[in-house]
Amino acid sequence: MADIALAVIGGTGIYKLAQLDDVESLQVETRFGAPSGPIRVGRLHGRRIAFLARHGEGHSLPPHKVNYRANLAALQQAGATRILALNTVGGITDGFGPRVLACPDQVIDYTWGRESTIWDGEGGGEALHVDFGDPYTPLLRRRILDAARVTGVAVVDGGCYGATQGPRLETKAEIARMRRDGCDLVGMTGMPEAALAREFGLEYACLAIVANWAAGCGDAAEITLDEVLANVAAASAGLPGLVGELARG
Ligand code: HPA
Repeated sequence: MADIALAVIGGTGIYKLAQLDDVESLQVETRFGAPSGPIRVGRLHGRRIAFLARHGEGHSLPPHKVNYRANLAALQQAGATRILALNTVGGITDGFGPRVLACPDQVIDYTWGRESTIWDGEGGGEALHVDFGDPYTPLLRRRILDAARVTGVAVVDGGCYGATQGPRLETKAEIARMRRDGCDLVGMTGMPEAALAREFGLEYACLAIVANWAAGCGDAAEITLDEVLANVAAASAGLPGLVGELARG
């Protein structure tokens, strides 16, 4: 099945892609085990698009339990070569407040203890040390930004995604440190997914959906799940159009 124009990995609050037609479900097994759930393949504006809910469709998998390797392997086995990762995040710096969509261009990885490479055993050779200076595929980022412009969806170009271990949210001091490090966004699922995608040879870019101000950055006394889900829903309204346009390109 080689004609998948785009694969989308949905994060917190995005468990299916609205407006997919003729959806079929694929149960894929990989050498890394099972992915988070079935891959839903359907049509959007005439193009075949694959969708996978990163946390499972019932959100049963916390960020540190997601089998990132199996998810990417399964999408690749299904015929995907290009991945749009939707990641729900907190905003740290000005311009990255709730309901903003951003296409980051850098990552800092603060996660630990996750399966973060496909090279478990021997070998790998030159492929072992993949270049990761630009963690997101520049051409795919450009296409996302073009699709956003064409469909009238505001997307911030650039920013640094700090990937934390979770599942708890961060302390104010941790966010202050991340700000000093240069992070604009904080989320729990950006890594190792991006690095694994590079190892798999997949084109990969992130569209981050800001759900809340990170700890200590806004006026809210605390971050609530209700706030997170309401902001993701509001910020996601333009996504089907953007994804359809992206798949066309
Ligand atoms: N921190 C980490 N991950 C997140 C946040 C946050 O504030 N909001 C949504 N995902």
